[in-house]
Amino acid sequence: MAFSSEFNFSRALITGGAGFIGSHIADVLVRAGRQVRVIDNLASGSLDNLAHLGDRVDFIHGDIRDADLLLRAARGCEVIFHEAAVVSVTRTVAAPVETAAVNDMGTLQVLDTARKAGVRRVVLASSSAVYGDDPVMPKREEMRPKPMSPYAVQKLTNEHYARLYHELYGIETVCLRYFNVYGPRQDPSSPYSGVISIFMTRAFTGEPPVVYGDGEQCRDFVFVEDVARANLLAGVAPDISGGVFNVGTGTAMTVNDLWLSIARRAGIDAAPVYAPSRPGDIRESLSSIDRAEAELGFRPAYDFERGIDITMAWYRDRAERKST
Ligand code: UD1
Repeated sequence: MAFSSEFNFSRALITGGAGFIGSHIADVLVRAGRQVRVIDNLASGSLDNLAHLGDRVDFIHGDIRDADLLLRAARGCEVIFHEAAVVSVTRTVAAPVETAAVNDMGTLQVLDTARKAGVRRVVLASSSAVYGDDPVMPKREEMRPKPMSPYAVQKLTNEHYARLYHELYGIETVCLRYFNVYGPRQDPSSPYSGVISIFMTRAFTGEPPVVYGDGEQCRDFVFVEDVARANLLAGVAPDISGGVFNVGTGTAMTVNDLWLSIARRAGIDAAPVYAPSRPGDIRESLSSIDRAEAELGFRPAYDFERGIDITMAWYRDRAERKST
């Protein structure tokens, strides 16, 4: 189904909008003059992430699996940005059933709510994890997925449901395969947190980081504001329904080099402690963003140096606030 190039929206719902990525999407949408509603159960998100937006965000505290609440939240919205999820690969390995309840059933609930509430488009957070360990680089959307963790299976299942909801019910669905997202507000407090948030925190406490495996595994680290902007583009781009898009930078870095770069900026000299690789961990990850560029008009605005400097300033500030 094609839709007109005039497509736009005035009100959107962000599931998981108090979380790391969701709250940056809220920022971008508010700046773009859209009405923003957020539903979040605050399991991993925090109201602190939205405090600066004040009453420009309509916040609903609740779980996406609460069908009645979600339906109320979705009414009157033309687009849903679906970010609510358990985002840790390792946690899904430890708890495949419990995490599927959120990542699979929760997403199905969001799609079905969109259908019932007459929401026109749903933009879903998928993951580069769906590519698995295929050694071919860079990862292109047409490559055959090879999920290696429950997390990757859950995200791939989301993509299939999204396509089906497009084909069966005419909902305009768009899946964004995020690569490794980093930036301000990423919560470093659990062992399952994103590597950059953990390394930043270690750099300010002076503790050596733990590197799993030999540290030569690499990741395509993409700055969160670019990811938020990709979402806005996916919310308005014409003729992309049923589509899947990589959101990365097209460059990659090893975990060892990542620590060196952060330690140098923090002015510390601490060698990492090496530990066995984590189960389900992918060796290499690098995106091709050709499709997102061609069809969404997406180009990252932040290179690694600029993104990491902004992120570092945020964690430095946080560390200083904690110590006073
Ligand atoms: C991350 C995301 C996931 C996303 C995927 C896309 C998080 C928590 N996970 O998974 O949601 O879908 O990217 O590619 O943001 N590492 C260390 N030391 C640490 C922590 C991690 O060496 O203290 C290593 C890991 O073993 C891994 C790499 O750093 O090799 C990245 O780990 P992590 O940030 O957890 O991300 P992914 O597992 O790639």
